[in-house]
Amino acid sequence: MASQNTMDKVVSLCKRRGFVYQSSEIYGGLASIWDYGPLGVALKNNIANYWWREMTQLHENIVGIDASILMHPQVWKASGHVDGFVDPLVDCKNCKARFKAQDLIRQWQTKRKLGALMEGEIREGGEGDLQELVKVRWAEATCPTCGTTGNLTSPRLFNLMLKTFLGPVEESAAVVYLRPETAQGIYVNYLNVLNTSRLKLPFGIAQIGKAFRNEITPGNFIFRTREFEQMEMQFFVRPEEATEWLTKWRDKRFDYYRKLGIRAEKLRLHQHTPQELAHYAADAYDIEYEFPFGWQEIEGIHNRTDFDLKRHSEFSGKDLSYMNEETKDRFTPYIVETSSGLNRTLLTCLVDGYYEDTQDGEPRTVLRLAPAIAPVKAGVFSLVKKDGLAEIADQLANDLRKVGTVFTDHSGSIGRRYRRMDEIGTPWGVTVDYQTKEDQTVTLRDRDSLEQLRVHMAELPALLATKLAVN
Ligand code: GAP
Repeated sequence: MASQNTMDKVVSLCKRRGFVYQSSEIYGGLASIWDYGPLGVALKNNIANYWWREMTQLHENIVGIDASILMHPQVWKASGHVDGFVDPLVDCKNCKARFKAQDLIRQWQTKRKLGALMEGEIREGGEGDLQELVKVRWAEATCPTCGTTGNLTSPRLFNLMLKTFLGPVEESAAVVYLRPETAQGIYVNYLNVLNTSRLKLPFGIAQIGKAFRNEITPGNFIFRTREFEQMEMQFFVRPEEATEWLTKWRDKRFDYYRKLGIRAEKLRLHQHTPQELAHYAADAYDIEYEFPFGWQEIEGIHNRTDFDLKRHSEFSGKDLSYMNEETKDRFTPYIVETSSGLNRTLLTCLVDGYYEDTQDGEPRTVLRLAPAIAPVKAGVFSLVKKDGLAEIADQLANDLRKVGTVFTDHSGSIGRRYRRMDEIGTPWGVTVDYQTKEDQTVTLRDRDSLEQLRVHMAELPALLATKLAVN
């Protein structure tokens, strides 16, 4: 059973084995910003490639784009982010702690303390509505950090978008935002893609890229950070088909996490209540994973209606409607969005795959990563370094590199070398021994079943390629 302890162990493994480092660590680090080391970047790229294959290559009607992080400032007015992408914050004047107003309300709701602090009705789960926040008598509330009463401020709005300036002068006319979601890069390119392809509704545009949010409560390692990557696909459909496509994509995306090897009992769907729905959505589901710190969203699937295209039409003055060639009717397509976090998926794979057991009396840590995303596909070892065994192993490793990343190691006990590979999720271990010199066979060991087979060296590249093939 995963516990906070598992989280600590995963964080420690990430640092120790070169998956994730704190950003600018030699300067004391930068809060909630992380760097990916050699194994981390390999795992991240493999997950991104897996998603790209699943969401573009396997569909004749989904194409990709790569839009810029910096976009025209009007984009964020049209999208609603300038006015609406805000978190109401509450400060404690005594201890200087800062809270999201929603988090405090949630805590008080759980402890049934909210009633005493409220004027009028507050809907259950309705804490997203600013009108609701006004009903709380903040000045009479107790700060959960220092325990003093009467020091909390009323909520103040704080925009989560990060700003910078284009050009040499830092003036308001030069303000641009680092995109808080990749989706808008797709909407503003919708017409370009439509005009330069032969796509017809329904069709999708996919993108993987960085997004930035000045999160108030980042944390839980790489779960919520201020710089992160999203993998989003926007599916353009006829309005009357949006509900059907939302269901289809919801189920497909749920299955995707199962294909990535995530345990079924750790995944669930959550349909948004009317109070939880974003301003652009008619219906939405979150795919949630049970992390050691509780059930949390890893992906959102939304029926965004025609909100985005209509708003961009209105703000840009460009007609973004779609004409049905046969019936000649014009309408604005609805969008069904699948929005997944790359870093969050990576954390999910690490937490879900983390496993400890004992082998031959020695403790073993295993990352049960799906072979397709494992950073190293095979460890290739020689039983001993001498008698030409290391040279045979090196040659075999070179042959296997054409299939996937392999790692060689010729010293130390073989059990220890296997365990070092298990800890980073390497699915297979290959050992060259004295028998190899006689019959060209090697031992192939499976990380999960621990089964060991003798395989002819010449057959190994094709065998690993078959095992790695994703269906
Ligand atoms: N375009 C829709 C959108 O951005 P979202 O629910 O805000 O929706 C989608 O984000 C996904 O992006 C989340 O499910 C999560 O996986 C990831 N994500 C969002 N904020 C994040 C953050 N601060 N750190 C890491 N991942 C984040």
